[in-house]
Amino acid sequence: MTTTLGKQRVLLLGATGETGKSILQGLLEDRESFDVEALVRPSSVDKPKVKALADRGIKLRIGDIQGPTDALVKTLTGIDVVISAIDIMGVLAQIDLATAAQKAGVKRFVPCSFMTIAPPGGVMSLRDQKNEVEQHIRKLYLPYTSIDVGYWHQISFPTIPSGRVNYFSMFETNVQIFNGGTMPTMMSDLRDVGPFVARIIKDPRTLNKSVFAWSDILSQNEIFEIMESISGEKIQPTYTSAEEITATREQGAAGLAADPKGYIATAVKSQADYKYSMYVRGDNTPEHGKYLGYLDARELYPDFKPRGFKEFVKELLDGKLEKMYGDLRL
Ligand SMILES: NC(=O)c1ccc[n+]([C@@H]2O[C@H](COP(=O)([O-])OP(=O)(O)OC[C@H]3O[C@@H](n4cnc5c(N)ncnc54)[C@H](OP(=O)(O)O)[C@@H]3O)[C@@H](O)[C@H]2O)c1
Repeated sequence: MTTTLGKQRVLLLGATGETGKSILQGLLEDRESFDVEALVRPSSVDKPKVKALADRGIKLRIGDIQGPTDALVKTLTGIDVVISAIDIMGVLAQIDLATAAQKAGVKRFVPCSFMTIAPPGGVMSLRDQKNEVEQHIRKLYLPYTSIDVGYWHQISFPTIPSGRVNYFSMFETNVQIFNGGTMPTMMSDLRDVGPFVARIIKDPRTLNKSVFAWSDILSQNEIFEIMESISGEKIQPTYTSAEEITATREQGAAGLAADPKGYIATAVKSQADYKYSMYVRGDNTPEHGKYLGYLDARELYPDFKPRGFKEFVKELLDGKLEKMYGDLRL
């Protein structure tokens, strides 16, 4: 790959979060290309996670993306690339951030997408919110790149009867198969998000484009077979129909209508939307990504070999993975 961009100063929002940690690591592994700083909100300055960033030598810029635009413009001054890895509650707060980035002369804005492929327009509320941010970016003619990564290995694996993988599972038991389990879906190891992002943001070909990255395309039935064959354990799945997914989405929508800013309502709707999009509609595939105008990161960077799902399962069974989201369990 030929790069024409020099060393870039990157400001990362979300460096203490799961997606952000991977991105931070990916950028730090390429110090010749990037100087990385972290954008931290004033209310988080004293958090141990933020102190840990400073201890690693990461320069912090303190700024409130929901505060006055002028102050935010100052915070962003001198930055070439802004990357946002904000959580699902904060997506629309990126609108003001994009406005400030354009005023500060940021050369590339990477809004928080980092999800699965789905068309806008009522399939996934989260996708629609992210699309609203991207529409705003395009209205500003702010240079951007949007990156999606499929569904993480880290939340795709089923639990097994011995309980050997419970230490890492976000769910007490996770053996649900949706809509027959036959829909292929794109997946990535969360740890590869960063290396993909590092390649994408120094590539002039990805400017003002959407890019998807992935390691495997597997159905749930294939995922369960892999888990059984590597662990040697038999999984007893439970089955959830397309109609049941639709009913949960409707409940989620009603909950969200009653409490538009509620975390539980947002999370329930978001989870049901993912199931509907991936397992009922079958949106999350390279073919649909290309139809929607994306570039494929595997074609752009054929030398990079992402961690496959089987590789991930072996590490998982070895008990060596570090739990995500602290002690949170769903
Ligand atoms: N593809 C997949 O399978 C998958 C799975 C999960 C998530 N995702 C996507 O990944 C994205 C990131 O989610 P995540 O779960 O990685 O997030 P997370 O772990 O919850 O972390 C969120 C980060 O955003 C920061 N943040 C939140 N609001 C902020 C604000 N107003 N100003 C500055 N920083 C702020 C938090 O900082 P503090 O320390 O200040 O709280 C934290 O560092 C989401 O949009 C989600 O859609 C994708």
